Amino acid sequence: MRDAAPQTILLSDYTPFGWQLEKVELTFILAPRATRVKSRIAFVPNPGAPAQDFFLHGEELTLISATIDGTPADTHLTSEGLTAKVPDGAFTWEAEVEIDPANNTALEGLYMSNGMYCTQCEAEGFRKITYYPDRPDVMSVFSVRIEGDLPVMLSNGNPGKKGDGFAEWHDPWPKPAYLFALVAGELVAHSDHFTTRSGKPVDLNLWVRPGDEGKCAFGMEALKKSMTWDEEVYGREYDLDVFNIVAVDDFNMGAMENKGLNIFNSSAVLASPETSTDMNFERIEAIIAHEYFHNWTGNRITCRDWFQLCLKEGLTVFRDAQFTSDMRSAPVKRIQDTIDLRARQFPEDSGPLAHPVRPDHYQEINNFYTATVYEKGAEVIGMLKTLVGDDAYKAALDLYFDRHDGQACTIEDWLKVFEDTTGRDLTQFKRWYTQAGTPRVTVSEAWDDGTYTLTFRQETKPSAATPAPQPQVIPMALGLLNPNGDEVRPTEVLEITQAEQSFVFEDLASKPVPSLLRGFSAPVTLDRESTTEERAFLLAHDTDSFTRWEAGNALARQTLLDMAAKGAAPEPAYLDGIQAVLRDASLDPAYRALMLALPTQSDLAGTLKDKGITPDPDAIWQAVETLRQALAEHLQDLLPRLAAETHVDAPYSPDAEQAGKRALGGAVLRLLTRLDGGKAAAAQYAKADNMTLQLSALGCLISAGKDEAEVQAFYDQWKHDRLVIDKWFGLQIMQATPEASVPTAKALTEHPDFNMKNPNRFRATLGALAGHHAGFHAADGSGYALLADWLIRLDPVNPQTTARMSTAFQTWTRYDAGRQAHARAALERIAATPGLSRDTTEMVQRILA
Ligand code: PHE
Ligand code: ZN
Repeated sequence: MRDAAPQTILLSDYTPFGWQLEKVELTFILAPRATRVKSRIAFVPNPGAPAQDFFLHGEELTLISATIDGTPADTHLTSEGLTAKVPDGAFTWEAEVEIDPANNTALEGLYMSNGMYCTQCEAEGFRKITYYPDRPDVMSVFSVRIEGDLPVMLSNGNPGKKGDGFAEWHDPWPKPAYLFALVAGELVAHSDHFTTRSGKPVDLNLWVRPGDEGKCAFGMEALKKSMTWDEEVYGREYDLDVFNIVAVDDFNMGAMENKGLNIFNSSAVLASPETSTDMNFERIEAIIAHEYFHNWTGNRITCRDWFQLCLKEGLTVFRDAQFTSDMRSAPVKRIQDTIDLRARQFPEDSGPLAHPVRPDHYQEINNFYTATVYEKGAEVIGMLKTLVGDDAYKAALDLYFDRHDGQACTIEDWLKVFEDTTGRDLTQFKRWYTQAGTPRVTVSEAWDDGTYTLTFRQETKPSAATPAPQPQVIPMALGLLNPNGDEVRPTEVLEITQAEQSFVFEDLASKPVPSLLRGFSAPVTLDRESTTEERAFLLAHDTDSFTRWEAGNALARQTLLDMAAKGAAPEPAYLDGIQAVLRDASLDPAYRALMLALPTQSDLAGTLKDKGITPDPDAIWQAVETLRQALAEHLQDLLPRLAAETHVDAPYSPDAEQAGKRALGGAVLRLLTRLDGGKAAAAQYAKADNMTLQLSALGCLISAGKDEAEVQAFYDQWKHDRLVIDKWFGLQIMQATPEASVPTAKALTEHPDFNMKNPNRFRATLGALAGHHAGFHAADGSGYALLADWLIRLDPVNPQTTARMSTAFQTWTRYDAGRQAHARAALERIAATPGLSRDTTEMVQRILA
């Protein structure tokens, strides 16, 4: 257990480490309960660093021996590591420690998953492997020897000697310890080759447990596409002889970009048509790309300290989004990302956990792998690209790679390459990195005889993280439409820099309709007094696919808010407008499917709160039910036609075209189920030969309450497959009525297949409950209490996942006094747990503050 009083780490306290590491040699002698790790490290004084005591991080290690230049070291152990007396010049440190991978349930450091050894070192896991300066600005070349009797023993870099009971690896690229990895076990490879554009051959292997060989082909193709794309679009080539990916079942996150040895949560890489949905395939393609792209943005150029996390994550998310846009549909990807940002990042940015894209303090860095750092961090790069233009963006990135290859960098370094390339002053733009909060942009307009004026006001709510927000640079992409639907001014980008700013458009024949924030050109909330007629007009005519979708989304939002808060009836203009879009067979089915997606219930609750109305989760649930029923009835005649149109005859492929059809087909089936009581869904379930169709049918049957036979049949069919059973756990909770959701979740935690040590299963169950808005926020507090019970149980086992899942409570102050009292009691119960981890303590304290 860690110290009771957590320390706050400050960006402003950064000091370079006093030594440089010329090389690191590690030997692992593997044993489940007593692995020995021997290290030999060549230290030389760092001329650029202030004088300091010699300190190495180390946690949960048993020190066997330590020498400096061959003589026993004079060490002093602390709870966080050790200090030692060292000579003035260069010296060699040698140590041997013992660790216990079999008992490592936190899944940080060296641990075991299904009999296989694996590591997770980001952010600060290496200190659980040996004593080391475990900070990202300390980079070194590593040589690794693994001793054990396992058939496959892997580490970073290129393979070296291999023999009976040992394997050696050498990584020629200097790296920080967080990119170290080791895997050993009975694994089989799905192998392939890639030749880089300069002719360098690379062996590619995807390592899995025997039995999973049939789920590798898609991931391998995604890897090869990623390698080609990074060469073509960013000019980045791979730089080792091998690229290994390993799938592990127990993993806290999606995947990890360790140099030459990426480790993946099996849910983020294994795929087959029978067991994975279209959405799984798309996510896997994106994550493979993301981790691969880190080889340059993260590994070759890494972060100086963990405050700079967005330097690698924002940029790599931005790059993987570009990749997905190129591989699939760019408009669909942009809409999906906007939905995701509103669902995950906006609540974070307006609640107690708000922090800048580059935070300036933290207690536990694991708690800052957030939607703000990742997704808002990517949005900030998108804005930068919009502001400087594609050519300057490319030039700036070339300069970034040239200038900083091999370095550990900061956001200042990143912005400087843009300033040097373009001559722009990015001082104000930098506020996107240093200020928390989502700017709200209010728009007003004036029309005077051919002259149209748009006035924008920006305002960001003060928060603990940013008490006095200053105006930001907001790229506002817009177009103007004529009342007949023609575009009179094509898309242009206005730069809003002041708190209030007007833009004038002259010589217009008639008052235009503005199409604002095209392509979601900035992560802001747009507040514009708009009429139903105007929104319906844009839904019918907007020439920009994003704002056209947004118009439908805004209509849905408005009618749902009126229904939930005022008991209004569904808005006919919305129903008619959606019907017209769905009828238009020239529109991509995936795009039409997105038109049917309603704002999430949590998003609606947040919007009500912004308007000063206390959200009632039951009323919101009811509004959504009523609107969906109204849609089903309104579209009654169209639904069978759409179902036929989305039918796929060809053999299953996860490509964008087929997936788009199935997405629309799935949305149509949900509506049909409201009319036929589940007949069509039961028929689809009976003949489904892929997981997308099987799961969408099962979801419909559950929500119709006609699911008993199928829920059991699904379990019997798939009980051998952990990833499919995760879906089975989650779906029953997600599709339950508000009254049934908490009891269903509770019953599933008592199912023999529930296992809290497996993060995927825990998330599938408790995460699904947290995502059920009306269920989790049940008025009697039962949802809060159940989640708190399980977080308290999980914390000693796996603090990282516990802390991450505690964010379900971050919106608790939105709701009424009764719900708040229940939420507070649940949070205080967690906070009062003896021995609570640093991770969870920090989160619960911030949420309660
Ligand atoms: N760096 C990983 C990624 O984004 C995420 C991760 C962080 C994984 C911490 C494990 C632990 O790709
Ligand atoms: Zn990443």
